[in-house]
Amino acid sequence: MRTKVIAGNWKMNNDITQTTELINGLKAALAGKSLNATVVVCPPFTSLGTAQQLIAGSVITLGAQDVSLYDSGAYTGEVSVGMLKAVGCTYVIVGHSERRQYHGETNEIINQKAKKVLAGGLIPIICVGETLQEREQNITDTVLTTQTTGVLAGLTAEQVERSIIAYEPVWAIGTGKTATKEQAEQAHVVIRSVIASLYSPATADKVVIQYGGSVKADNAKELLSQPNIDGALVGGACLKADSFASIITAV
Ligand code: 13P
Repeated sequence: MRTKVIAGNWKMNNDITQTTELINGLKAALAGKSLNATVVVCPPFTSLGTAQQLIAGSVITLGAQDVSLYDSGAYTGEVSVGMLKAVGCTYVIVGHSERRQYHGETNEIINQKAKKVLAGGLIPIICVGETLQEREQNITDTVLTTQTTGVLAGLTAEQVERSIIAYEPVWAIGTGKTATKEQAEQAHVVIRSVIASLYSPATADKVVIQYGGSVKADNAKELLSQPNIDGALVGGACLKADSFASIITAV
């Protein structure tokens, strides 16, 4: 049985004051609720320290939005796995479509980052997903197969089982257009079957595959009730404590 994981990707939002408000609001909104999901918040690097202190003793766990390929040294602007570990992160998002689109990240780079994160004992949330053009060309399954194969290259079965895959159709991110539950489930089935053929059905069965793309309180329940959808990677709707809490309690 896979545990559902609901992660909030804050993207480039919230300074330290806003971080404090949002985490305190989330703690209050979740207080006393019995939860069936792991809760993750992924603030910007500058808020990780504050977030770490605020989540202590709560159900909330911490993730980062990106990581360097390198351990230390002359890489201006970069942050290493070791630094993320030291600030209390358990998860790291790698290969978000915005990193692919604006920072030139390829499957190869994402694969190397996932390996770094796993070697450091953290859990990568590895993103894949087709563009609108690719969906309209009916090549979604091929794109997902290529991306999944590329980002997992060289990982052991044990490492894949520890990883999270986030299916984020690029056309659904920040657009208010959510994949239907059928479209999302179908994509998750494709990803899981790629993992089954690369590794084994038993390994594929263990991998948490999240859906991301305009997840909101009012569509979370139907998406999360699909058999292959094991959680959500939430953007816009995680920036308000109540709406993020409603997604979490929809599980
Ligand atoms: P939205 O929920 O704002 O569509 O963003 C999804 C996303 O990119 C999460 O990583």
